[in-house]
Amino acid sequence: KSCPTVKTTTQGKEASSNILGDAMAGEASKEEVLKAQTRVWNEALGFVRPMSLLAAIQLGIPDAVHRHGGPISLPELASAVGVPEAKIPALRRLMRLLCHSGFFHREAKPNGGEVYSPTIFSQQLVGDSPTTAAPLFRTMTYPQLVMAWYSMVTWLRSEGPQTPTAFEAAHGEPLWGLLRRVPEYNGVFNVAMGCDSQWSVGHVVREHPEVFQGLSSLVDVGGGNGAAAKAIKEAFPEMRCAVLELPHVVADSPEIEGVEFVLGDMFQHVPPAHAVLLKWVLHTSNDEDAVRILQRCKEAIPSRELGGKVIIIDIVVGSGDGGGGDQLLLESQLLFDLFMLAVTDGKERDEAEWRQIFSAAGFSDCKITPGLGPRSIIEVYP
Ligand SMILES: C[S@@+](CC[C@H](N)C(=O)[O-])C[C@H]1O[C@@H](n2cnc3c(N)ncnc32)[C@H](O)[C@@H]1O
Repeated sequence: KSCPTVKTTTQGKEASSNILGDAMAGEASKEEVLKAQTRVWNEALGFVRPMSLLAAIQLGIPDAVHRHGGPISLPELASAVGVPEAKIPALRRLMRLLCHSGFFHREAKPNGGEVYSPTIFSQQLVGDSPTTAAPLFRTMTYPQLVMAWYSMVTWLRSEGPQTPTAFEAAHGEPLWGLLRRVPEYNGVFNVAMGCDSQWSVGHVVREHPEVFQGLSSLVDVGGGNGAAAKAIKEAFPEMRCAVLELPHVVADSPEIEGVEFVLGDMFQHVPPAHAVLLKWVLHTSNDEDAVRILQRCKEAIPSRELGGKVIIIDIVVGSGDGGGGDQLLLESQLLFDLFMLAVTDGKERDEAEWRQIFSAAGFSDCKITPGLGPRSIIEVYP
């Protein structure tokens, strides 16, 4: 079907043109233009994907579907998550998208109804799953973090250090200020970090125990609520484990047997230990700050000959797909980099950028082990 012909005015002259035809004046075929339009629509509406998942998490849909113990019907799901009968058609539309995205499996029943089953993706959003990413999802889609994007252009065009991040341009304070000031978000954030640490560091101690073997003590710098230190302590009970953290985080952390919490500032002093863990800390810092933190870590550990090292768990952009060109993995790394650009003055680094800050902090070498999804384990030697 051809496009409508419209009248437009070009440089004062009346001209008759076909919108699609004009757009195709170059090389592109009609089909290519339609595909490009669809792609742009898809991008513009792309934010609906995480927002729909957020609504599902807030409603408790992943938990309800997983707990049901078999395919769950729409009325059963509505009742389980507190959606009234009048909104069941809306819930059905939400589930249609989530099934299309692969988060649930949908089966049509001969009587016209439909039932839903879990998938490995919805499993990652079940609240009490050992690998739950639901708290992380809530943290990343928190309104103030999303709002930072509306100040991105203002920030990009600004010069000077008055507004170091788009987040600050939007809110007049850094992300860390929000965390200190708003207990509700501090809680959501710390739980998210803790859940991630519990499973990801648990995975590292199981799959790569050599990273921690032989260490007599470890301090987890910026170690959040101690979940990573707990996972390490459980796997290596002989190891002395400590967490260096800020007061508002320690105040929100549970007591953990065998893990000591030390109040302090990683820019000033890191308590001495055989090894230092930095998980998801350096990607929140610019290069200058990252070098300062690494210098404090180097002062805290013994020489390489005595087994001293810094263990970093973070993204190495371009690493982790085994050279297979895994687009989902690379895109996740690039998305995380832009996320950090919007909300912190940190960044995700490629291998050359990591090596550059290690060298600037006085370290001699590093070993990168991919294998933690988009993230890698980096062992840095004095
Ligand atoms: C992105 S979180 C990572 C938490 C934890 N390592 C994890 O991966 O779950 C960064 C942590 O660094 C802590 N932090 C920030 N500035 C710090 C400082 N100057 N000294 C000690 N900890 C700090 C924050 O409180 C926060 O818990």
